[in-house]
Amino acid sequence: MIRSVITGTGSALPVRRVSNAELAETVDTSDDWIVERTGIRFRHLAGPDETTGTLAADAARRALAAAGCAAGEIDLIVLATATPDQTFPATATKVQALLGIDDCVAFDVAAVCSGFLYALQVADSMIRTGAHARALVIGAETFSRILDWQDRTTCVLFGDGAGAIVIEARDSGEEGPGIIAIKLHADGRHNQLLYVDGGPSTTGTVGLLRMKGGEVFRHAVTNLAAVLEETLVIAGLTSADIDWVVPHQANKRILDATARKLGLPAEKVIVTVDQHANTSAASVPLALDVAIRDQRIMPGQLIVLEAMGGGFTWGAAVVRT
Ligand code: UT7
Repeated sequence: MIRSVITGTGSALPVRRVSNAELAETVDTSDDWIVERTGIRFRHLAGPDETTGTLAADAARRALAAAGCAAGEIDLIVLATATPDQTFPATATKVQALLGIDDCVAFDVAAVCSGFLYALQVADSMIRTGAHARALVIGAETFSRILDWQDRTTCVLFGDGAGAIVIEARDSGEEGPGIIAIKLHADGRHNQLLYVDGGPSTTGTVGLLRMKGGEVFRHAVTNLAAVLEETLVIAGLTSADIDWVVPHQANKRILDATARKLGLPAEKVIVTVDQHANTSAASVPLALDVAIRDQRIMPGQLIVLEAMGGGFTWGAAVVRT
């Protein structure tokens, strides 16, 4: 049975780390409010020389090193982002150039906070057809560039960063490592609850992020619990089989409420939102890399990845490490 196996992970964060107290010097907010409502304590914000592409390339280099894989062995790069370096070309091709890969397939996927799950599904499908042997799947964002820094209801919630994984085609057997199931959804009826008020084809500007947070919150808990259940059923598993949940890191209260709905103990949920805030498409691979490097997630374990974001888009994946 050919499966896509994760052979290495990596991540990268901008140098500048900003506390809630530092934000409160310029925005009408407080450390207490942000911690109580979201669980966020810090976020990293990109400096002038740090872009989605450079962060993605740094994360990719670390993933390649962890996989013991040379850049030239990669034949596919799928990069999830809502904050590309330019409208075109795809930031994936910038990463390709920075890694010195002369020829491979490289493109971006836009599904906002669910982007990494979408990119994973695309890359996994392309690997399982036999067309590709080894892929870099990357989630990378610089949301600080599209935040309205006058709007306290959104600007305190997001951070910048990148996470990357290397996946390889392997004949790993029924109980072996690999991506077991992925389920994705989108419901465009809600695309005005979380959006950017600009774009090349409408205003001709980049635009700024706008969100009706309360409504997003309610949909997130319902949709995430449902898609987790659905993906476990596809995989023939129950929540009791799962060693770790690696969720999209938007709000600690969403993580807690989703885990409670599924009867999953909080100790099985990887939490990085306190350190990184919401890094959109980067948050799942970033959290995965943190938990693999600190040796909570070990080889042979069953993990679920999940995310929900603008569109709405949402999805989950079951993976054996
Ligand atoms: O990644 C994509 C998915 N995104 C999400 O999942 C985000 C989902 N939404 C959320 O996480 C939460 O809804 C928020 C964190 C955005 C907001 O939390 P909330 O508990 O829903 O607060 P709220 O919007 O109901 O606001 C409560 C109060 C309001 O004041 P009034 O009207 O009660 O006087 C806000 O103006 O808190 C006020 N407020 C703030 N106060 C201090 C909103 N933002 C801030 C702030 N600092 N930064």
